[in-house]
Amino acid sequence: MSRERIVTRQLLPDDNQVDTIRPVSIDEYIGQERVIENIKISVKAALMRKEPLDHVLFYGPPGLGKTTLAKIIAHEMDVKIISSSGPALEKAHDLVGILTNLNYGDIFFIDEIHRLNRVVEEFLYPAMEDFQIDFVIDKGPYAKTIKLDLKRFTLVGATTRKGLITAPLRDRFGILHHLDFYSVEELEKIVFRASRILNIEIDDAGAGEIALRSRGTPRIANRLLHRVRDYSQVMGSGKITQEIADTALKLQGVDKKGLDTLDRAFLEVIIDVYNGGPVGIEAIAATLNEEKDTLEDTVEPFLLKTGFLLRTPSGRRASPAAYEHLGRSPKITGEQGDFFGFPEKNEI
Ligand code: ADE
Repeated sequence: MSRERIVTRQLLPDDNQVDTIRPVSIDEYIGQERVIENIKISVKAALMRKEPLDHVLFYGPPGLGKTTLAKIIAHEMDVKIISSSGPALEKAHDLVGILTNLNYGDIFFIDEIHRLNRVVEEFLYPAMEDFQIDFVIDKGPYAKTIKLDLKRFTLVGATTRKGLITAPLRDRFGILHHLDFYSVEELEKIVFRASRILNIEIDDAGAGEIALRSRGTPRIANRLLHRVRDYSQVMGSGKITQEIADTALKLQGVDKKGLDTLDRAFLEVIIDVYNGGPVGIEAIAATLNEEKDTLEDTVEPFLLKTGFLLRTPSGRRASPAAYEHLGRSPKITGEQGDFFGFPEKNEI
């Protein structure tokens, strides 16, 4: 089932406006302080040596700024960036044109790099390591392999699933950074910055309300800001206040914790259908009629972060906080009145 999710972290067609508010230079970037500090050092060192940057791998949930950071690195290194994605690179042949057109120091960005197929991935290894590719010309008995030298480039990969990156590929990246969810304060600053650029009138409490409900994710914060702006234009004075933000977001199905209908449905399935768990992700996906990957990529990370969801060796469980948030009374079992949804000590 394809639910329209305002809080999905995947890119939606409407998000193209992102390019007008996307930070361009590293100093404009808000949050991910440790990652930013490290990137600043790597970039400065590479510039001092007049060398290209080492290959970089960003991993973490969608919408946290992996693509933005790749573009920022290109800006700071003053080089060209060519962008593609794992699923788009179907054949090794697709790579030849891209790689041979890169100049010294240029960046080749591959989003969803965990979705590269084996052949393409293996074709990348010598390109990353020795800046050479084996290029097959002709077919059948006349087939010949020639080695093509590439200019030294930087591969920037992004993935939501570090666990799905093979060891040989992962080992070829010199710089690895994990992006984590943003704090409410950081998201508030991001909402203010976007409002300033887009000429949206907003007060502190209004920005705070949007930040609180953005699931730690700038992409969602910016999307919610747009929806609240629409609401305030039509139903209010155009200024975003806490009251306006609260009403607009409620109307969009986003609750006080930033959960949307799919997040709540996910927890409700565990609680109502599977008695609080433990239950496997496949069973939840089948009950919800959703893709397992969608749930693992875009629903689970934030539910785990908030503590509404517990992942145990025997399966997913809903936490007491999830019962409370959804207004369910905890299931009482046994004489001790154990909380059914609570994990065993050794499972945490
Ligand atoms: N817009 C989206 N993400 C941002 C960030 N991390 N800093 C500033 N503006 C942003």
